[in-house]
Amino acid sequence: MNREQWKAVDHFITSKLVPGDAALEAALHDSEAAGLPSINVTPNQGKLLMLLAQMLGAKKILEIGTLGGYSTIWLACGLVEGGKLITLEAAEKHAQVAQKNIARAGLAEKMEVRLGPAIESLPKLAEQRLGPFDLIFIDADKASTADYVDWAIRLSRRGSVIVVDNVVRQGAVADATNKNEDVLGVRRFYDMLAKDTRLSATAIQTVGSKGYDGLAIAVIN
Ligand SMILES: C[S@@+](CC[C@H](N)C(=O)[O-])C[C@H]1O[C@@H](n2cnc3c(N)ncnc32)[C@H](O)[C@@H]1O
Repeated sequence: MNREQWKAVDHFITSKLVPGDAALEAALHDSEAAGLPSINVTPNQGKLLMLLAQMLGAKKILEIGTLGGYSTIWLACGLVEGGKLITLEAAEKHAQVAQKNIARAGLAEKMEVRLGPAIESLPKLAEQRLGPFDLIFIDADKASTADYVDWAIRLSRRGSVIVVDNVVRQGAVADATNKNEDVLGVRRFYDMLAKDTRLSATAIQTVGSKGYDGLAIAVIN
């Protein structure tokens, strides 16, 4: 098994199960054209997010880490009629590209992109009583993941689901000698999950066109 094979299988799955969508493809194209890094979820991962939202009958979704709005658009496609999504992004350029991509997808009415460090935006969401969110997708700076999960729990209700991306990091997460800031952040996140009785969680390893990584999923007790 190698990365070429993972890519080929992702391509196979996507060609069978994830029909092309003009707005999503344009979002990726314009994100790349604007110089944003290609660190968005893959199409089949995006569809997984949409299906999770549909399974939950999500009325309110929170995303932490917007980039160009690719995963945001997938999540919004899973909202129930009249549902709302708030996405948090620290980089102004990313937020601007996302706004345009979201508007072109015809989703601007359902969405709000909040600019600023997520750790500052999250308490404001609580103050403004914008929760509880049914689904929260965390995909921002990995060092802060545990803090974001703590806020996600406070902004949830029993049965809300939290999904966290990039929790395996090419296997580095299991290497206790690795001192990379992102790896340490993800390890801190696992330590938190292991002790926190407010939620029940698991994680899986994944391979695909973006390499070897993994995602965690948790439900609020
Ligand atoms: C992996 S990308 C998000 C990808 C996006 N979820 C997708 O799949 O299309 C991470 C994003 O988080 C943003 N970010 C990094 N640190 C942040 C912070 N402290 N607060 C909010 N956003 C942050 C980055 O600017 C970047 O756009």
